[in-house]
Amino acid sequence: MGATRVRDDATLSVAWTTKAGSPVPRLAGTSTTRKEPPRIMFGVHSFLGLFSRDIGIDLGTANTLVHVRDRGIVISEPSVVAMEAKTKRVLAVGAEAKRMVGRTPASIIAVRPLRDGVISDFDVTQQMIAYFVRKVHDRIGMVPRPRMLIGIPSGVTEVEKRAVRDAAMNAGARWAGLIEEPMAAAIGAGLPINEPTGSMIVDIGGGTTEVAVISLGGIVISRSIRVGGDEMDTDIVAYARREYNLFLGERSAEDIKISIGSASPGEWDTQRVTLRGRDLLTGLPRSVEVGGEQIREAIEPSVALIVETIKDTIEETPPELIADIMDQGIVLAGGGALLQGLDHRVAEATQMPVHVANDPLTCVVRGTGVVLEELDIMEEVLVADTYARPPR
Ligand SMILES: Nc1ncnc2c1ncn2[C@@H]1O[C@H](COP(=O)(O)OP(=O)(O)OP(=O)(O)O)[C@@H](O)[C@H]1O
Ligand SMILES: [Mg+2]
Repeated sequence: MGATRVRDDATLSVAWTTKAGSPVPRLAGTSTTRKEPPRIMFGVHSFLGLFSRDIGIDLGTANTLVHVRDRGIVISEPSVVAMEAKTKRVLAVGAEAKRMVGRTPASIIAVRPLRDGVISDFDVTQQMIAYFVRKVHDRIGMVPRPRMLIGIPSGVTEVEKRAVRDAAMNAGARWAGLIEEPMAAAIGAGLPINEPTGSMIVDIGGGTTEVAVISLGGIVISRSIRVGGDEMDTDIVAYARREYNLFLGERSAEDIKISIGSASPGEWDTQRVTLRGRDLLTGLPRSVEVGGEQIREAIEPSVALIVETIKDTIEETPPELIADIMDQGIVLAGGGALLQGLDHRVAEATQMPVHVANDPLTCVVRGTGVVLEELDIMEEVLVADTYARPPR
């Protein structure tokens, strides 16, 4: 279920040699080896650049966020699309569509096109991106031919990458780049990714958890599992069914997780919450009161998998980088980082200091914003095989 990727030595040494000649830190300096694009292209692009604003998108399995240069985060909505079942005509996107989840008549379906960290439906994903870009135009006025940088889960296939880039180009981008979410999250969390020191980021999203060790602008080692906040919700649904014969909706399970879910004991254990669902035996509505400890027990399978993945990644990390991470601490990002007591749990399991990033839900999109501002000197953090020199 998990996937480990270790950069081969060749890639790593390229990263080292490009930096070796650079006397100034990468973020502050400018690259001298970069070739200029052809003059005519440069002219057209810089002309557009005068009027356009760069757009960064975190295409998450649970939430899509959009960052616009000089404006900040202008959109933050669930990655949900409601469609007519028969014709697949899109009826609603985002928050409006999420309200329909579990409440739609048979003629309407509400889907999450990225649900498990993979793009299950290209067409719907494309429509969703187009919708959010249109919404940016509505909110802040027309953005003519922007450059777009999109955060994607690491481990998506080539076909999926192409689909995302095509979606951005179809939505009017003059250039579309991709960045892996853990890299963007690390940048958004303010980690010194360009320095010769190891930083560890754990991005716990809805559908995926991604753990990465980054040094010198590259991912040295990463692991990604298709377990995140959604799986915890499923755990709670299964728990209610198993323990109480209660059929609970996924949305209610998520609300319960957010209100009293936890990964280690704490003051939240004294709180109680009411599970409201349908009795599986009588078919009638029923409610049951449970405590924080029970919800912790319910989500434990997912939490344990996340903690194991972090430990496994540490085991494969070169010792020099481990020493750096011990100094700096492991940084948790993504909505799952807000789970109460998760930082303590990870610290205990790894014997390392652990910090929750500032505003963990927005790290990835803020990271795309930073990269777009510094595109000239941060090209190497983009997904390499989709790289085409960004216009100015
Ligand atoms: N306070 C909270 N406590 C626990 N979980 C939370 C909290 N707030 C949000 N979450 C969970 O975080 C998840 C969403 O996080 P996020 O927006 O980072 O995911 P995503 O980026 O859309 O997904 P992915 O990174 O997998 O593509 C959801 O499962 C949500 O229930
Ligand atoms: Mg995410």
